[in-house]
Amino acid sequence: MENSLKTMPKLGKTIALINQKGGVGKTTSTVNLAACLALADRKILVLDFDPQGNASSALGIDRATAASRPTIYNALVGEVKLSETIHATEVDGLFVSPANSELAGAEIELVAMFARESKLKIAIAELKNQYDYILIDCPPSLGLLTVNALTAADSYLVPLQCEYFALEGLSQLIHTIGLIRQSTNPALAEEGILLTMYDGKTNLSNQVVDEVRKHFTHQVFTTVIPRNVRLAECSSFGKPIVLYDVNSKGSSAYLSLANEFLTRNQALEPTVTPGLVTPPPFNPSTGMTGESSNSL
Ligand SMILES: Nc1ncnc2c1ncn2[C@@H]1O[C@H](COP(=O)(O)OP(=O)(O)OP(=O)(O)O)[C@@H](O)[C@H]1O
Ligand SMILES: [Mg+2]
Repeated sequence: MENSLKTMPKLGKTIALINQKGGVGKTTSTVNLAACLALADRKILVLDFDPQGNASSALGIDRATAASRPTIYNALVGEVKLSETIHATEVDGLFVSPANSELAGAEIELVAMFARESKLKIAIAELKNQYDYILIDCPPSLGLLTVNALTAADSYLVPLQCEYFALEGLSQLIHTIGLIRQSTNPALAEEGILLTMYDGKTNLSNQVVDEVRKHFTHQVFTTVIPRNVRLAECSSFGKPIVLYDVNSKGSSAYLSLANEFLTRNQALEPTVTPGLVTPPPFNPSTGMTGESSNSL
């Protein structure tokens, strides 16, 4: 039974985390949602689709390690298969295809190529059904990389920072999604809006939450990610929050986001699935959680 489950094709649902505004929590949300979904026994692939390479380093893949193999850039331009770029991470069931500054060149190189908007979709096709969920960390722009991500994706998730001008630029983003639906990806669905960096002590954060919920009602995730210094720290240590400080507010928030996400996607998943996520056992002597495996 277990063996047949392992060989069954997986859901392969692909989700692009997008917002052309910089620093709103796209990478933090990609990495930490991905880690929490992996803890719930889903097999997860993170595609680092930002030349800044922040998702790669936040998952412990430093520049030298990323350069030891072809990167997502090489797969995007068709030089290698996407599966040749994938690294295991410290979290069992969580894998990453890293990016580096080479990916910035793709934005220009792709312009002259046939089917330039579909390059990522073509690259993903080979391995889509080997993962339960594939999360794409997009760059802060609506250029050709983001268009490729939205063309490859089944849905998009928008992290919104609880601050002044949170909604600024959203109409441009919605317009881009409309264009993608009319052209390269009519089935592109909405995963939801995720409010990030919420600070309960400020009126401003509460006003933003109220306004966004009023405008977008059920599209907004119930889970709100608080501003939490441990979330900012963990990326620089190359660890998702559940390995860095499982008892932090940030960790609880991403664990409940993963549960909400899985509940929303329940209807799509195969009937025999693992359950929701529970926090891993915490070892106070090492400050570390759970077991990890680096096997592919
Ligand atoms: N909930 C949070 N609490 C505290 N700091 C956070 C939180 N979320 C993200 N940060 C920090 O804010 C900064 C921006 O976050 P992040 O890199 O996730 O945003 P981004 O949207 O991916 O940025 P970019 O557009 O540059 O790719 C980072 O330094 C990150 O560590
Ligand atoms: Mg980022």
